[in-house]
Amino acid sequence: MQIQDIITLYAPATGEALGSVPALSTQQIDTMMTTATHKWPEWSQTTLETRSNLLKRWSAILRRDAEKIAVLVSKEISKAYADSLKEVIRTADLIDYVADDALRMIGEAYRGDQFPGGSQRKIAFSHYVPLGVVLAISPFNYPINLAAAKIAPALMMGNSVIFKPATQGALSGVALIDALIEAGLPKGLVQLATGRGSVIGDYIVQHPAINMISFTGSVGIGRHISGLAAMIPQVHELGGKDAAIITDLANEKHIISELISGAFGYSGQRCTAIKRIFVLDSLADQLVSSLQAAMPTVTVGLPETNAMVTPLIDTKSADFVQELIDDAINQGATVLFGNTREGNLLSPTLLDNVTPAMRVAWEEPFGPVLPIIRVASIDEAIHLTNESEFGLQASIFGSNIDDIFSIAQKLQVGTVNINGRSERGPDHFPFSGIKNSGMGVQGIRRSLESMSRQQMTVLNIQK
Ligand code: NAP
Ligand code: G3P
Repeated sequence: MQIQDIITLYAPATGEALGSVPALSTQQIDTMMTTATHKWPEWSQTTLETRSNLLKRWSAILRRDAEKIAVLVSKEISKAYADSLKEVIRTADLIDYVADDALRMIGEAYRGDQFPGGSQRKIAFSHYVPLGVVLAISPFNYPINLAAAKIAPALMMGNSVIFKPATQGALSGVALIDALIEAGLPKGLVQLATGRGSVIGDYIVQHPAINMISFTGSVGIGRHISGLAAMIPQVHELGGKDAAIITDLANEKHIISELISGAFGYSGQRCTAIKRIFVLDSLADQLVSSLQAAMPTVTVGLPETNAMVTPLIDTKSADFVQELIDDAINQGATVLFGNTREGNLLSPTLLDNVTPAMRVAWEEPFGPVLPIIRVASIDEAIHLTNESEFGLQASIFGSNIDDIFSIAQKLQVGTVNINGRSERGPDHFPFSGIKNSGMGVQGIRRSLESMSRQQMTVLNIQK
């Protein structure tokens, strides 16, 4: 009898033991894959209404248990309780939207004689069919939302799912799937592949039973996976270094509010966090003064206090953020606020006079640090924005909409936000990154499409 290895999860903020999950062996993964392979054909024969009703029951249970689940999420990933609760409700809304939107997905119809020499006796139409077994791999920072954003569309399109949650977030993943099981999930249709990605990840990704991979996580892991996986469809949502370009301060109060929440929300542990500001030299002193004055409003503390900045997910992450700050200071950056640390709790840090020579101008901190880069022209801001290895989102703030649209057209990113912070939501918006920010597109309809294929049927009329 093989002894089951387990992984115990501790709260990053307090060290409290929260629970444990099994660390699956390759044999257990093989069994899981066999089940998943046998389950999807049967599920694909269900009606869209059956699938939609399962998802609606799932979302109702999540709403019922939202506060309980939010407490777990908050403790497990050190996210403010209020933000954790928002994530659960947002996920229920996402699931409901998936359940409805799939009912509106229609195929296409073709006539043979639309093509030169084609016959009008040849009629074709397409309809959506599942891919088979979808591997959903989610990151730590949205353990409920970014998991359901994969699982719900996969199920709605008739697939089975192997769900690999982030280890720090796995207990939240278990809660998510427990709700789905209570909602009536057919046994074995969604299975939790818990265990450290560094141990079982490659095995799962390369498993021949997998027909599609939806990954959200770091660039390094994403690139590793995309190189390993077989010739199967993949969607990757990876890192970001979202820029905020300030063209004027006509609406300064709004700009400051968006920069603060955009940079320091969930301690900056968002792929769409604002991770660099480009400001014209002529505006810089005024912006710096207003930002500096606003920094004390960034609350710092434990997740249960609903602080904006809480202890980071682990010491390795906190050390990395500190490394970037130290490098910038050593090269002449000015600390306008912060740069203090208590364990994994880093104070929100505002750096001025950051230059392209500094690592923090280019690397993704995934922590509460905001570098200000002064530029002589908007063209310089556009150039530096596009020089990044990332291309997730960008924001442009200002009052001249013609100038702003002109800038937006030149930015090499998945999304340009005008007079608003960069963010993924609302979840029906297509969400994509280019370069090292990912490949493929998420967002509800795009996820439904990427987890299915259009099968053609051609009718040859005899008379
Ligand atoms: P991560 O370290 O890349 O882990 C992401 C997921 O991949 C986790 O479930 C992890 O499992 C798993 N994994 C690790 N090694 C693997 C392997 N060899 N094969 C298969 N899976 C493997 O990322 P994270 O720390 O959770 O999240 C932070 C990063 O994700 C940041 O870079 C952030 O920008 C990015 N992110 C991007 C988006 C977006 O939508 N673009 C959203 C959120 C986060 P373990 O936890 O067991 O290692
Ligand atoms: O990093 C998670 C990413 O999906 C950000 O989501 O809604 O906070 O912009 P959001």
